[in-house]
Amino acid sequence: MPPTQATLPPPQDLIAHADHFPILQNWHFFNHGGVCPLPRVAADALNSYTTAASTHAYLHADWYRRISRLRSTAASLIGASRSEIALVKNTSQGLSFVANGLTWHPGDRIVLPACEYPSNQYPWMDLARHGVEVVKVPEVIGPDGVARVPTASILAAADHPRTRLLTISHVQYASGHRADLHTLGQFCRSRNILFNVDAIQSWGVLPLNVQEMNIDFASADGHKWLLGPEGAGLLYVRQSLQDQLRPTELGWLSVVDDQNYSNIDLTLKPTAGRYECGTLNIPGFLALAASVDLLTHVSTPFISQRLATLTSLSTHLAQQGSPAKQGGWTVVSPSPDLHPHEWSGATCLTHPQLSEQDLKQIALALRTHHQIETAVRGQRLRLTPHFYTPEAHIEQLFHILRTLTP
Ligand SMILES: Cc1ncc(COP(=O)(O)O)c(C=O)c1O
Repeated sequence: MPPTQATLPPPQDLIAHADHFPILQNWHFFNHGGVCPLPRVAADALNSYTTAASTHAYLHADWYRRISRLRSTAASLIGASRSEIALVKNTSQGLSFVANGLTWHPGDRIVLPACEYPSNQYPWMDLARHGVEVVKVPEVIGPDGVARVPTASILAAADHPRTRLLTISHVQYASGHRADLHTLGQFCRSRNILFNVDAIQSWGVLPLNVQEMNIDFASADGHKWLLGPEGAGLLYVRQSLQDQLRPTELGWLSVVDDQNYSNIDLTLKPTAGRYECGTLNIPGFLALAASVDLLTHVSTPFISQRLATLTSLSTHLAQQGSPAKQGGWTVVSPSPDLHPHEWSGATCLTHPQLSEQDLKQIALALRTHHQIETAVRGQRLRLTPHFYTPEAHIEQLFHILRTLTP
């Protein structure tokens, strides 16, 4: 019998729980910022889907009810309402829907950090065909050693009468820096600038509230911190903007009378469901729904507090080194102790004697010889544990890392 929310142990007891997180049986896994392993609840959801689909097709299933509930649970993680959530393929599709669904005029400006993940650059750059100008704000290493795009620089770039939209990742994928969405959102709202957020590195694990932060659009796939499978994503569109954001893909599911195929009536749904043009990725969303229930049970405050503990520990161990290795690893990510509003679940490390190629070799050695999974992003070794990761895994990682570095 798959565990329901009621039968899950309390959050504290889920830490290091290998029955609920089977990955713990095989790996020290530090790549939730890349592609997460599935928790047992999600694997169970997929298994029951394949059993039901192969023995009864769709006939005995309550798939659609469970997926419909996902809109509510995913919405409540970000302070949205269910009518503002569309189920999409991935983050890139959500971002592209926003870029291509708005009406642009020559001379309109879009502002974004230059270090954004490619998916939060290309759809905006492509708007050059409408004469739209993209302004990119560079990342800098501050005197405190932290890699960030300063809020003041973003505001200065956005402070222009033609700025129509600001787009930013809540957490940068290659530095782990968390943006000050409160300040940016307030600024955008006061200037009538649209505010778009790539939330794949934070939805469900860090405080994110679309109302309090004045966010107009947000996109994420489920396959990182939300602990879902790949290819089942979420798009939030503020209710009051849904008539302004034209759906760029249309089909039977976009319209109000979606079950009546002989009634050809292009009246769009009065919800973000209008952005779902046809049959959904049912197994993917069933698994994501189960993972989101699990995260809801654990709660964002608990997860966020736990990630603060793990990021602090990683930062401390990276900086500690052995006496002979002082000055070895440098942490470019904000730490919860020194930067209480900027840290995230990611700890990104650089080493003055190691090139990107060297870092990739180290990551490969960790994977091949030690069953430890990390990632290299933007010339940095990135560590992204999740709330259930035991501290001992981080200690063992650094113990081995010291044997692999100059
Ligand atoms: C910030 C950010 N945006 C987007 C993506 C990926 O988007 P998609 O869900 O389209 O694969 C990633 C993946 O690494 C990411 O880190």
